[in-house]
Amino acid sequence: MIQEIHRIREEALEALAAAQDEREIEAVAIRHLGRKGALTGFLRNIAKLPAAERAAAGKQANAAKKELEAAVQKARDGLQPKRPLQTERVDISLPGRRAAPGHTHPVSQVTQEICSILERMGFSVAEGPEVETDYYNFEALNVPKYHPARDMQDTFYISENIVLRTQTSPMQIRAMEQQAPPVAVIAPGKVFRCDSDLTHTPMFHQVEGLLVDENVSFADLKGTLTAFVHEMFDSDTALRFRPSFFPFTEPSAEVDILCVMCRGKGCRVCGQSGWLEILGSGMVHPNVFRSVGYDTGRFTGFAFGMGVERIAMLKYGIDDIRKFFNNDMRFLRQF
Ligand code: DAH
Repeated sequence: MIQEIHRIREEALEALAAAQDEREIEAVAIRHLGRKGALTGFLRNIAKLPAAERAAAGKQANAAKKELEAAVQKARDGLQPKRPLQTERVDISLPGRRAAPGHTHPVSQVTQEICSILERMGFSVAEGPEVETDYYNFEALNVPKYHPARDMQDTFYISENIVLRTQTSPMQIRAMEQQAPPVAVIAPGKVFRCDSDLTHTPMFHQVEGLLVDENVSFADLKGTLTAFVHEMFDSDTALRFRPSFFPFTEPSAEVDILCVMCRGKGCRVCGQSGWLEILGSGMVHPNVFRSVGYDTGRFTGFAFGMGVERIAMLKYGIDDIRKFFNNDMRFLRQF
């Protein structure tokens, strides 16, 4: 019996050593280890052996089976590494794959462009907190508690007296608190309002402007903003100053430019009016000067505020403000 097991084992190992490829290895495995294989048949018949031989024969047969299974697996493994090396070539002359370097976001680009135009006129940049007190965001800007004008902006309150700033106008107060006139500052930054649709996002960007000195007049406001619009858009862009209301300016005006889509004929973008509003402005209200202790008899000034995304949308003909914040690379790469 033991000899019979040895014979099967020898024969299988020899056949395996001679096997050249996968097909031949599998043939050996089937012939000796398969369901109808020699060793399997032997194990099945072990019960028929005399009791005295049974234990020893079973032990030997099982050991031989394990050995053969391991040898077959080793032969299979031995074949595998050959193939990739034979069929694949690594072209070491190919250039490497570069990581995309990224570039300035369109909102940042337009912010920089707005600031650089105004800086060339003599304004300097000031930055301040996005989490602001009720005092700076409203009270000092002539918007007392319970003033109906607070309804113009859907405020995110952190607590009763702390808000996410709804506008960059609080920077007017912070700038004036830090220096005596003359003041010429612009303040770019993020602002927050609880509002979301095609033309509103809960976070967007504004650039605020403030000029205070002796003898500043509405003519200075008009001249400055006209020059700004002509640099930001085309130098022949038609614009108009339209009376409006802001609590921190008196008189107040909004600036419209001739619709960039229909050139004034009236279309969906301009609501058939032919004009597009691009910023708010006005002469600084005496109450605002009072809250920073400026002499209202001696100084006058003008202020303005504009939405960066709105200007970017008009400049590039973008119809949905949310595109700026989806981070779709196909959109962003165009800038
Ligand atoms: N803060 C205003 C807003 O967010 C914009 C604005 C209007 C700013 C008139 C000004 C101004 O400085 O004078 O709607």
